[in-house]
Amino acid sequence: TTVGPFKNEPFTDFTKEENKQAMQAAIAKVKQELGRDYPLHIGAEKIVTDAKIVSINPGNTGEVIGNMSKATQQLAEQAMQEALKTFETWKKVPATERAEYLLKAAELMRRRKHEFSAWMVLEAGKNWAEADADTAEAIDFMEFYAREMIRLSETNVHQPLTKIAGEDNRLTYIPLGVGVVIPPWNFPLAICVGMTTAAVVSGNTVVLKPASTTPVIAYQFVALMEEIGLPAGVINFVPGSGAEIGDYLTAHPKTRFISFTGSKEVGLRINRLAAETAPGQIWIKRVVAEMGGKDGIVVDETADLDAAAAAIVASAFGFQGQKCSAGSRAIVVEPVYDELVSKVAALTQKLEIGLPEHNYAVGPVIDKNSYDKILEYIEIGKGEGRLVAGGAKAGGDGYYIQPTVFADVDGKARIMQEEIFGPVLAMAKAKDWREAIAMYNDTEFGLTGSFFSSDEDRIAAALEEMHCGNLYVNRKCTGALVGVHPFGGFNMSGTDSKAGGHDYLLLFTQAKATSRKV
Ligand code: NAD
Ligand code: ALA
Repeated sequence: TTVGPFKNEPFTDFTKEENKQAMQAAIAKVKQELGRDYPLHIGAEKIVTDAKIVSINPGNTGEVIGNMSKATQQLAEQAMQEALKTFETWKKVPATERAEYLLKAAELMRRRKHEFSAWMVLEAGKNWAEADADTAEAIDFMEFYAREMIRLSETNVHQPLTKIAGEDNRLTYIPLGVGVVIPPWNFPLAICVGMTTAAVVSGNTVVLKPASTTPVIAYQFVALMEEIGLPAGVINFVPGSGAEIGDYLTAHPKTRFISFTGSKEVGLRINRLAAETAPGQIWIKRVVAEMGGKDGIVVDETADLDAAAAAIVASAFGFQGQKCSAGSRAIVVEPVYDELVSKVAALTQKLEIGLPEHNYAVGPVIDKNSYDKILEYIEIGKGEGRLVAGGAKAGGDGYYIQPTVFADVDGKARIMQEEIFGPVLAMAKAKDWREAIAMYNDTEFGLTGSFFSSDEDRIAAALEEMHCGNLYVNRKCTGALVGVHPFGGFNMSGTDSKAGGHDYLLLFTQAKATSRKV
């Protein structure tokens, strides 16, 4: 096989009438399919359970997206056994063949792009552009990791070895075994697809436990992989309670690795449980854990203030602030602080809130728990800063909250330190750009950040000093692209795995060095 160089999937321009109509048609089609029952996939078996996870539309809570079967520990065990059995054959499938499955799946997803996006509009509350970007990223991950596996499999290309006389030396990347894949709900397609296909293309088999608020879109991906002919048992799909089957699978002696993306609390728990050696376990489990963020944008007095205000608002409120990359802090130097606060407040007040299928800028947050937690943080914010926009729930039959901005917040305040994961922005004043960078760095997280300035020396200093995995200059801090901005964070943001980068597949392989006398 020859595959061309990787290119990012373009975003859809919804100002074009034909694209708008195609998206509306996809939403209408998906609406016809709402409320169905979905099974687990364990090996070749489809298992329907009595217990169900009922997935609802967060923007219209009366609308049931689907009834997802729910695995017990016993079914999780069955999934583990299928994954173990299938590993014995899957690991022998040549890398290029494994890559072919991903390329086929990418092609089919591209053809049904708006349909996948429509599921996310309805199940996750994404507006069209956010859903379209999520689907594009899922396609990108498959295209990218397929090429990466081909490259890794070319002997001595990835890591050329020093030659010596009399020996043929090689380094081969072989898979690890069975992985447990635990994605979050906020990129319910892209991250689920990226984590799963990276593991699988590397020759591992997986037990996939999707996030409980977005199991139906995860199912659409699993069904697509079956449709393109991926052998049964490579991806075993077991929705269920994180605490019940997540812990069970994490602690399982046959689990070789856990690939997790989600909150700091759960990531640390998985890391701790995985460090224990279960009876019969003969390896150290590998944990890839990508966790939360308290990302921020720093603005100095030489910056283009309109561009900075627009970037702050886009970073803080895109998908209602429910991104690990969301810019939930803005730190602005004193001479331009008041002006920037007014610009940010004005732009925020213009954001319209409403049903995602009608493509409003701002939609609902994911569920009742998030809704209550975010509203609590807004009350905390009222004691920690000056409310300049939003500050309350919004109308509608779902979990709608006004995009909210607090100004004059202290660097140590809770809303400057804790991940809220909702549409809440805290703005703080710094005396100069150096202090602003120090305030930016004063966090346990380290995922994304932006620096706005037109001063080259300061930009150079910021590039060096702002401590995060994905740092941007004069642009928003969300929207990393596969292959372009390998993604992952420092400190409590996780293991810096750099999804969508050339190092990523190494996390799901082990290198075997062979040396033959010639
Ligand atoms: P979460 O931690 O609540 O859940 C993530 C996944 O873990 C879900 O599938 C959940 O069911 C599962 N889970 C829960 N308890 C478990 C347990 N004991 N054992 C195993 N699995 C368990 O996170 P979330 O609410 O789905 O996602 C939001 C969080 O994810 C935010 O903190 C966000 O910053 C983070 N996130 C990080 C990145 C990144 O790349 N760093 C990307 C997206 C989201
Ligand atoms: N990769 C996503 C972003 O950069 C989280 O916004």
